Amino acid sequence: MKTSYRTALGGELGKADIGREVRLAGWADTRRNLGGVLFIDLRDRSGKIQLVVNDQSGEDTLKEAEKVRSEYVLEVEGQVVARSEETVNPNTPTGDIEVQVKSIKILDTAQTPPIYITDDDTSNETVRLKYRYLDLRKPKNQNTLMTRAKVMKHTRDYLDENGFCEIETPVLGKPTPEGARDFLVPSRVQKGHFFGLPQSPQLFKQILMISGMDRYYQIARCFRDEDLRQDRQPEFTQIDMELSFVRKEDILPIMEGLIRKIFREIRGIELETPFPIMTYDEAMARYGSDKPDTRFGMELTDISDIVKDSDFKVFASAVARGGSVRAINAKNAQDKLSKKTLKNLEKHVQVYKAKGLAWIDVKEEGMKSPILKFISDAEKDAILERMGAENGDMVFIVADTDEIAEVSLGQLRLELAERLELIPKDQFNFLWVIDFPLLEYDAEQGRYTAMHHPFTAPLDRDLHLLDEHPELVHADAYDMVVNGVELGGGSIRIHNQDVQEKMFKAIGMSQETAWKQFGFLLEALKYGTPPHGGLAFGLDRLVMMLMDIDNIRDVIAFPKTQNHGDLMSGAPGTAELDQLIDLGIALDDTI
Ligand code: AMO
Ligand code: AMP
Repeated sequence: MKTSYRTALGGELGKADIGREVRLAGWADTRRNLGGVLFIDLRDRSGKIQLVVNDQSGEDTLKEAEKVRSEYVLEVEGQVVARSEETVNPNTPTGDIEVQVKSIKILDTAQTPPIYITDDDTSNETVRLKYRYLDLRKPKNQNTLMTRAKVMKHTRDYLDENGFCEIETPVLGKPTPEGARDFLVPSRVQKGHFFGLPQSPQLFKQILMISGMDRYYQIARCFRDEDLRQDRQPEFTQIDMELSFVRKEDILPIMEGLIRKIFREIRGIELETPFPIMTYDEAMARYGSDKPDTRFGMELTDISDIVKDSDFKVFASAVARGGSVRAINAKNAQDKLSKKTLKNLEKHVQVYKAKGLAWIDVKEEGMKSPILKFISDAEKDAILERMGAENGDMVFIVADTDEIAEVSLGQLRLELAERLELIPKDQFNFLWVIDFPLLEYDAEQGRYTAMHHPFTAPLDRDLHLLDEHPELVHADAYDMVVNGVELGGGSIRIHNQDVQEKMFKAIGMSQETAWKQFGFLLEALKYGTPPHGGLAFGLDRLVMMLMDIDNIRDVIAFPKTQNHGDLMSGAPGTAELDQLIDLGIALDDTI
């Protein structure tokens, strides 16, 4: 029988192992040849251990060790020994010990890697993703993947303890026109028909509630063909859950419990629960965002009443047209923002459709502001008082529709916080945002669409408005937000066919289309549906938050780039003509 490659993991050895004979296997991380003495750091998933090859190792072993280069794969035998006092390295977990090598075997050689396999490697991302297997050898990336696995394990443990049952739903499903764009998969057997990859298991999990499989969960892969941003991928993972016979008040504590457990296990942090709850309207008015970062102040203030009769027409007319004038106060910002920065800040709010940005530089003498000549002293004094503005502060003002004023100042608030370094590190401000609008207007499509999804229940108190004024209805929906990131979202669902049909009507969908697309759900709703609701967390975003990583690609083993490509495997690829013929597909490159 062959002996096993290893009897221990190098990174797990410690002082207690001194004297032990071990066989280890791994990659040569660094190698120093001091002439007659060689030091090799051997790396595996558990960490690194220093190997010493010297005259005690014998001539053959020394010769073999001299051939070793970076990333060679080695099998070594030796004894764990204490390092001499001057060579102890307190910065590494195995810094007290080393392995005195007796024999070394090269299991495989390696070419010089195109990137440095160290956490501080600065190679460009294109190269790193092309050689993702090398990138993933870095201790930091391995740690991320192992932490991600732990998050999934704690999730399963918690949900299991709380009576949830893990059920898989199909990946080949029916294309759905609502929400993001679908990824389509052509059916060979039913030519001209397509599967849609799931944007989420939403409909199936609701159907499972109708089936009586109360408390479902799934760590589900979801697919959305949308433009990528810092925290979006076309293929991502949800912790998806659904419960029956529940109201929002039942669901939120269960979700808080899951997040509490994960933060305790992974970070050793005890989160305080229940999390604060804020309505959507309040979040927009105070923070100009439906996912407010509450780690710092600088809240928005409505100053419409002060300037509604102002001679400055920009302000007065915004109010007259039903909009508002809003402001934020950046404390002590004056000396920190140059003229050029102010120009850039104005450009920043213009991205969010604001027409301009007014500012007042608060100084005891010689106050500066491009609008001082337009507004009266009384107006100026009232604004400064309302804003609590003091010497050294800077007040920023936007006049527009409520939405544009809120959103653009909300974004300016984030930008200023970044520039003024107002955001405390290592702090997690969780909150729930609830009572979202049921619908939002989609200017591109010229119709209302569901803000969450069309299966979200209206709040009871607004139900009477659903026929005549669906745009005024609020939804029984809730998002869990932390530090300005939407970690998860969910809702109480419509469990009555009549309300579901009204909802389709409100988003301009005919009965016929609704039945064609969601007939299976409408049909199922007829057969006794329990009141139900649920939520899905973005697993990728959760891992990002836990590990303080700001790029979603860094928490996914094999992520996609901006143009949806996998640089390592070369996906997506072209199809062979035969495959296309089988599918009944002809490509028309004139489209
Ligand atoms: P929603 O669309 O809000 O809800 O998604 C839930 C959570 O999934 C994460 N997420 C993403 N993460 C990475 N890349 C993406 N492209 C991406 N899109 C969403 C976010 C988000 O909060 N079926 C409903 C849930 C429900 O109602 O139960 C749903 O999918 O963290
Ligand atoms: P104008 O008269 O257009 O030159 O604007 C005078 C000042 O008001 C400039 O500093 C503009 O940036 C600012 N301003 C213009 N439109 C708005 C607006 N909608 N909200 C806030 N400030 C504005």
